[in-house]
Amino acid sequence: MEALGGATVSQSQIRSIVSVMKSRKLICALVAALWFIGVLRPSVVLADAEKTEAWTIAYGGRLYDDWAKVLYRWYMKDAGTHPAYPAEGKLKGPDTWRCKECHGWDYKGRDGSYSTGSHFTGIKGLRDAVGMPLEQIARVIRDQRHGYTELMLPNDAVAALSLFVSKGQIDVEPVINRATKMVKGDPKRGASFFQTICATCHGFDGRQINFKTRNDPQFIGTVASENPWEAIHKIRNGQPGAPMPSLGALELQDLLDVLAYEQTLPKK
Ligand code: HEC
Ligand code: HEC
Repeated sequence: MEALGGATVSQSQIRSIVSVMKSRKLICALVAALWFIGVLRPSVVLADAEKTEAWTIAYGGRLYDDWAKVLYRWYMKDAGTHPAYPAEGKLKGPDTWRCKECHGWDYKGRDGSYSTGSHFTGIKGLRDAVGMPLEQIARVIRDQRHGYTELMLPNDAVAALSLFVSKGQIDVEPVINRATKMVKGDPKRGASFFQTICATCHGFDGRQINFKTRNDPQFIGTVASENPWEAIHKIRNGQPGAPMPSLGALELQDLLDVLAYEQTLPKK
């Protein structure tokens, strides 16, 4: 028996403490070795250059919406009307260069919500390009008919657009009713997403930001009810040129719930 500051420690206790310390040393050495050969080291540190696929698809989605606003804000002002825009179409100028203007918010062109009305062009949609190899889509974007030069759309923008077209589209038909524009979603669930994410900027009733004019206001509630295809595109991919998040990495059903809730918000 030894006296240790009043407490007494037996020989066997000392031996077991020493053996624990020895085995700890071993464990430490083992951990250090595994770290050194890379087994325990975190293998990826996401550097700036390594954008996730979810981010790139959303970026491509914003470019699809309005690439000039994403990249330049001002550049297309003097570009005139897109050469492939049909003469009988109702628009002129910069908007005719937006992918969505010819191929639609629902990616269905003449077979979707642009089958009639002021946005009709008679041009087909992009649903056949789902799953198409990225290089093939990039070639189409760069072809003569489209006429997008590198000065307008740099290569990384074309790459993101191609990824969006190939992997980022959704089939709207099963989730948005063509005739009634009603969304297959649960507005009660959607409210919690809306209030914790969107309300920060748009306000609880969606009327904090007016997209149009005082006399002819347009709020989230207006867009969601009148053009649910546009609304879900923006929820998934964000708003071109604006500091607004894209929620494409969440489950589609969550986003449909948000949209269903937005349809209950005031339109005026
Ligand atoms: C002014 C109208 C117009 C605009 C704007 C436009 N396109 Fe097109 N696009 C066309 C036409 C016309 C075709 C050929 C359709 C056909 O074959 O009938 C086409 C075809 C395509 C196809 C091939 C679809 C398939 O099924 O093979 C892809 C992909 C495509 N466009 C992507 C884009 C992207 C991305 C943008 C925006 C950067 C864009 N387009 C902007 C008119 C347009
Ligand atoms: C950080 C602020 C912010 C958040 C959060 C945000 N937005 Fe936005 N949103 C904006 C801004 C800024 C605009 C652009 C307004 C403009 O161009 O007049 C915008 C535009 C929009 C538009 C565009 C309407 C149009 O016709 O151009 C819709 C729809 C929209 N937001 C929906 C949403 C939804 C749904 C959410 C939540 C999922 C959300 N926003 C979250 C800032 C935000």
